[in-house]
Amino acid sequence: MRLENKTAIVVGGGQQPGDSIGNGKATAVLFAREGASVAVVDKDGERAQNTVDMILDEGGKAFAFCADVTSEISLKTMVKDAHNVLGRVDILHNNVGWSLAGGDSIIENITEENFDNVINVNLRGMVMTCKHVLPIMRKQKAGSIVSISSMAAIESYPYVAYKTSKSGVIAMTEQLAYMNFQYNIRANVILPGLMHTAMAIDTRVTAEKTREQVIAERDAKVPLGKMGTAWDVAYCALFLASEEAKFITGVAIPIDGGASVRRG
Ligand SMILES: NC(=O)c1ccc[n+]([C@@H]2O[C@H](COP(=O)([O-])OP(=O)(O)OC[C@H]3O[C@@H](n4cnc5c(N)ncnc54)[C@H](O)[C@@H]3O)[C@@H](O)[C@H]2O)c1
Repeated sequence: MRLENKTAIVVGGGQQPGDSIGNGKATAVLFAREGASVAVVDKDGERAQNTVDMILDEGGKAFAFCADVTSEISLKTMVKDAHNVLGRVDILHNNVGWSLAGGDSIIENITEENFDNVINVNLRGMVMTCKHVLPIMRKQKAGSIVSISSMAAIESYPYVAYKTSKSGVIAMTEQLAYMNFQYNIRANVILPGLMHTAMAIDTRVTAEKTREQVIAERDAKVPLGKMGTAWDVAYCALFLASEEAKFITGVAIPIDGGASVRRG
């Protein structure tokens, strides 16, 4: 029980339909398995409730909340409601992010609207969530914020808005870390690489490319032999959120099966 008596807000804790578990859902479930009471937040209430049901079925504690990270007022209301239900906010986990589904593209084709779509969801949403959670954590003089960026932030990656937004999440994390030392609030960021999630696999299946082909192509690119799963991301988030990481703040951790050390 590494999060006994802790409370957590997991934003983007539902998951899009698919055969494998998503990063946000796995993290919410693992936090609950380790003893945390979890507020599962999603713009899609049914998705949030699905995660909550899985946690309750396992004997854990969880509550579903609806919020859209592109709306500050929606986030403000959610944080207030979740705080009322949980009593404290020890952990904030920022998971929401998208790329092609938000209209991202190579720079030659990007539109103002699609660039804003991706930046607002991936970066502004996390900034605004932190804005409303920080006063609670500062009052507590304790807190851990874990945000999900991507290896796309530091690798060559073709689509301009996703890469830019995910680099921004790393910068945001460094700023959160150094502006909150005196409040004992830590902020860290995870950079997932090629993961076997519905978000990554199912969105790449086309008439020309089967699911099996998508999986085989992605597995072949990973130095450790195959893609990671959402549980790999969740275990890293668990460590960073827990007291075991009490001396760690401002770091960006790749969860990438070795991709970041492969050169040439
Ligand atoms: N899967 C990968 O290969 C991979 C790699 C690198 C980074 N990531 C990052 O992982 C995160 C998502 O992973 P996942 O597997 O949990 O994805 P997912 O899409 O299954 O789950 C994300 C949840 O966020 C919710 N959501 C979307 N827009 C929202 C909004 N505006 N407000 C509130 N909720 C919203 C969705 O309804 C969904 O339930 C993203 O930040 C993504 O960039 C994934």
